[in-house]
Amino acid sequence: MQILRTVEELRAWSRARRCDGGQGIALVPTMGALHEGHASLIRAAVEARPGRVAVSIFVNPTQFGPNEDFAKYPRTFKADCELAEREGATVIFAPSVEEMYPAGAATFIEVEGLSDRLDGKSRPGHFRGVATVVAKLLNAAEADLAFFGQKDAAQVAVLRRMVADLRLGTKTVVCPIVREVDGLALSSRNVYLSAEERKQALALSRAIRRVESLVAGGERLSIRLMEAARDVLAEEPALRMDYIELVDWETLWPVLIAAPGSLFAVAAWVGNTRLIDNTILQ
Ligand code: PAF
Repeated sequence: MQILRTVEELRAWSRARRCDGGQGIALVPTMGALHEGHASLIRAAVEARPGRVAVSIFVNPTQFGPNEDFAKYPRTFKADCELAEREGATVIFAPSVEEMYPAGAATFIEVEGLSDRLDGKSRPGHFRGVATVVAKLLNAAEADLAFFGQKDAAQVAVLRRMVADLRLGTKTVVCPIVREVDGLALSSRNVYLSAEERKQALALSRAIRRVESLVAGGERLSIRLMEAARDVLAEEPALRMDYIELVDWETLWPVLIAAPGSLFAVAAWVGNTRLIDNTILQ
C-alpha cells in the first residue's frame, strides 16, 4: 500500500481521485496503534468511498499536555499499515511533525465554548490541538467524508462545530463504539492497563449500561442518572473519577433532563491511564 509523507503528495492523490471518477475521498484520521475500533471506521469509509480511502497516522504533539503520554503513546506503524490494508484502505498518510507544523507555525484553532468542556476541562489545550491538526488533515486531503468514533464523543462535538464554522465542506461520519466482549470500550490506551486495572476499568462500561437501563425504564433526571453512574464507579475504589456528565451533544452543555440524543459521558483514571466511555441516549 502506498505511504504518503507530505501534504503535497496527499493533495495530489486526492485530486487525482476526484478527476478519475468525480467522487471525493474519505479520510480516517488516527494516531495509529490501530485496533478493531479503527478497523470499523476504515470499513465504513471503504464502503462509502471504495478505492478512495486515506488513513492518516500521526501522533499529534499539540493535543498532549506537558505531563501526558506523548512520548510513550504506542507506536505500531508496521502493524497499523497491515491492518489498514487488510480493511481496504487505499493509502496511508504518515507525515512528520515538521510536515504538519512547519517551523514558525503560529496558527491554532480554538472552538470556543466547547474546547474547555468534558475532556477539554481536564486536559487544557487538548481540543485546540485536535481541532488544529484535524483542520490541517481535512484541508490537505480535501476530503469530502471524514470518519470518527463515537467513543471520543466530545471530540466529535468540537470537530463538527469546527467543520461547520470554517465551512470546510467535509461531512463527518460518526461510527458506534466498539467494545470487548466484557464491555470495555476499545482504546489504544488499554494496552497500558495491568490485569487488575483492566478489571477495574470495566466499571466505566458498567456505569454506562446502568444509565442506559435506567433511561430505558423511564428515568430522565440528570441528577439520578449521574448518581447511579457514580455508585457503579464507586464499586472500584482504586478508580479515580474525572467526570460524569449528561450534556447536549451539540453544545456539550449540561442538561437537567435527558432527551433523545443527549450524551451521557464518563471519564476516570485507572492507575495512570485515563479512560472514557459514553452513550447517546434514546
Ligand atoms: O481521535 C484521535 O485519534 C485523534 O484525536 C485525531 C482525531 C486523530 C487527531 O489527532
